[in-house]
Amino acid sequence: MESKNESGMVYLKDYISPDFDITTIDLTFWLDDTETIVESILSVNMTDGRDNKSLKLVGEEIELVTVYRDNKLLTENDYKIEDNYIEIFEMPKSSTIVIKTKIDPLNNTNLDGLYKSGEIFCTQNEPEGFRRITYYLDRPDIMAKFKTKIIADKTKYPVLLSNGNLVGRGDLAENKHWVEWEDPFKKPCYLFALVAGNLGLLEDEFITKSGRKVDLKIYCDQGNESKCDHAMESLKKSMKWDEERFGLEYDLDIYMIVAVDSFNMGAMENKGLNIFNSAYVLANAKTATDSDFNGIESVIGHEYFHNWTGNRITCRDWFQLTLKEGLTVFRDQEFSADLNSRSVCRIDDVRALRNSQFAEDEGPNAHSIKPSSYMQINNFYTATIYSKGAEVIRMLHTFLGESGFRKGMDKYFELFDGQAVTTEDFIHSMEVANDINFTQFKKSWYQFAGTPELIIESEYKEENKKYILKVRQNKNKVYHLPLKIALLDNNGTELPLILSDSSQFNSKQSYLNISKEQEDFVFENIEEMPIASLNRNFSAPIKINRKQSLEELTFLMKYDQDDFNRYEATQTLSKYFILDQYHNGDVDNFKLDPSYIDAFTYLLNDSKIENSFKAQCMQVPSENVLYQDLESVDTDKVYNLRKKFILMRTLSSFDQIQNIYNELNVSEDYSLDINAQGKRSLKNTCLALLCDTKEQQAYDLCYKQYLNANNMTDEFASFYHLIQSSNKYSTEVISSFYDKWKSDTLVIQKWLSAQSSVPEGDSIQRIKQLENSDVYDEKIPNLVRALIGPFFRNSVSFHAKDGSGYKFIREKIIEIDSVNPQMAAGLSKGFNLYKKINKENKSMIKKELEVILATPGLSRNVTEIISNTLNE
Ligand code: ARG
Ligand code: ZN
Repeated sequence: MESKNESGMVYLKDYISPDFDITTIDLTFWLDDTETIVESILSVNMTDGRDNKSLKLVGEEIELVTVYRDNKLLTENDYKIEDNYIEIFEMPKSSTIVIKTKIDPLNNTNLDGLYKSGEIFCTQNEPEGFRRITYYLDRPDIMAKFKTKIIADKTKYPVLLSNGNLVGRGDLAENKHWVEWEDPFKKPCYLFALVAGNLGLLEDEFITKSGRKVDLKIYCDQGNESKCDHAMESLKKSMKWDEERFGLEYDLDIYMIVAVDSFNMGAMENKGLNIFNSAYVLANAKTATDSDFNGIESVIGHEYFHNWTGNRITCRDWFQLTLKEGLTVFRDQEFSADLNSRSVCRIDDVRALRNSQFAEDEGPNAHSIKPSSYMQINNFYTATIYSKGAEVIRMLHTFLGESGFRKGMDKYFELFDGQAVTTEDFIHSMEVANDINFTQFKKSWYQFAGTPELIIESEYKEENKKYILKVRQNKNKVYHLPLKIALLDNNGTELPLILSDSSQFNSKQSYLNISKEQEDFVFENIEEMPIASLNRNFSAPIKINRKQSLEELTFLMKYDQDDFNRYEATQTLSKYFILDQYHNGDVDNFKLDPSYIDAFTYLLNDSKIENSFKAQCMQVPSENVLYQDLESVDTDKVYNLRKKFILMRTLSSFDQIQNIYNELNVSEDYSLDINAQGKRSLKNTCLALLCDTKEQQAYDLCYKQYLNANNMTDEFASFYHLIQSSNKYSTEVISSFYDKWKSDTLVIQKWLSAQSSVPEGDSIQRIKQLENSDVYDEKIPNLVRALIGPFFRNSVSFHAKDGSGYKFIREKIIEIDSVNPQMAAGLSKGFNLYKKINKENKSMIKKELEVILATPGLSRNVTEIISNTLNE
């Protein structure tokens, strides 16, 4: 087991391989709400060459009933039992241990281990939930074969599921029945799953490329079966895609997904039996938005892709988490990009990266994608491990190209299938398959925290027709990265790139190979001063610091052929105007440059681009992203300037925006095809901008849309805009939306979150009232996330000058921590602006953080986050 020192920290450098191995585990569950009995039969073998005869098995919040070794009942002389483990003495080389424990699923509100979601028994064992079920070597490098027998009431729990194949079932006395499952693949215990309930079922099948039939089953609450179609389609697409793009075929004869309402995160890749937050399964046009549909497709893909990247090859220890998560996010991003609009997917992914990961990386809880220590591993399921981890894999893909990357993946499976490995093992596969050296890449990207910055200057030498890019980076953190580029002439045509030193440039992928603290890149035969389009497609997850003129930016906004960089120019320009005003002006004398308005109009009129892409280019960076360019943050000022910028820009082209809206606002049958989605996206972007002006005519349009919508995308967009600022429709739509949807928890979550983000009025009072409504339950993470989550982005209320927002969140964190520490830790991360917020707010936050930290019985989860924040 991991060693914790007195401060409760776990260190990567302390890793030692286990003294014992467990080859098989046979489990029996006698399910009961408050007294479930678990029997676990383990074949235990001492590792060759080890002589530690004590076997320490971890366990948390479980009660030991009995323990046997080789049929002998052990007594307190044979073992020691502590709060979090049992230590069995004098172990022979090989033995069979039989442990019985008693657990209380009903009162397990942590939602880790075995618990109840409504009437359904389900499990969540990653990373350390299994120790809440039975004593075990709960670490991912222990891979065993699992057999699971479940015994339960036949009426209440007709469906009994676990990993692998069903091998037996039968009836028992007292209206009970049993089933037995056997998983032929060895696996770490974090991939173990059990589900029991009276469930609805949607069935289908998939024929693999080698001709095997796989049964596909999606289980949900009865009555929701018809909302599982999209998830099923997504699953079949995922299976096909992994065969086509990576040559990877599914390996069992059955694949099951279960949707539950109480779940700490999105979903879990348990072998053959995924458990999902119902938000990532259930959808139809009436209840789910386009973005919900796309979220389902990507999470279904993500969990499916884990079967190879996560399950068959897993992590040696939890410091390697990005090994499976970064890689699997990269795979799910590519899946979505192959199925939808590639450039819009890229823009979405980068926007999410900047909003959460960049913010995390400059906040008090910054960490590298491979941390070297932790207090509570649950706190490390972060944007950094996931999204930055995916960017790191994407850079390898850019360096190697699709075929080189594929060779590296094939090598990875050839070398490590069936093993628990490290990130070094992954990089090694890429290196040997491509005969390339990634030492510096590995060192920089896996070890350093923080977003890298490149400082770039350029110079054009008319006399010898050379263009020089001078690239510098921090001498203490020199990264190796691919910087995709193009040089454009003044028609927007890409110039051929000839470098004086051709080894600096990869012409196939069109990237500069950046690896030095300082380096000049000299381009030859450049006839006129070019415009540089840098970091195309966001080839590296970095910030670039360089001077760009308004002309250059508006030029790129109009003509860059790289969709990402065209979008990027729109974002840089918005940032430029808002931040310039922040430093040098104020809300009242804010003016927009005519050349910018001209470029914006050009964009609105551009008929060659896709609607969905146009909608992206009309977005304005979030407050969260704007903070990243400031040293000391005045949140109200950022809020007001951003609003003002949007207002002025919309007023400058109100009619045009309204025309686009009207053209797109035609009634048609709902379709998920990407053009139909693009129309809705652009239409609702226009609607948002129009409503931001608070003109009555905009609200009238919006209300009309609300009444006529035949799908949730349009319905929710109009509902949302009608309530953000009070107008004659606000009150009515809040109650009509509620009446219509009060019995559908996923839709009601939207209703809650829209209200929580309203900046006007007394937000806290409003939220407190919502907490008392019938549809709310603080034990259900989705509801808490829906109601409290948006409040953090409601900067006016959260950062209110009287400190009321901070006090409210402090109370919530303490209250929720006693129910569900993971959820409370999630809320605790909401203070990540602490480092750079202005002095007055900072001292108010400090006071609240100290109150939290002084709370008796505070969880390790919250303790870690809050103390990092205070120690920044
Ligand atoms: N492995 C799961 C996934 O990314 C997530 C598990 C998260 N666990 C947690 N304790 N936060 O698909
Ligand atoms: Zn994952």
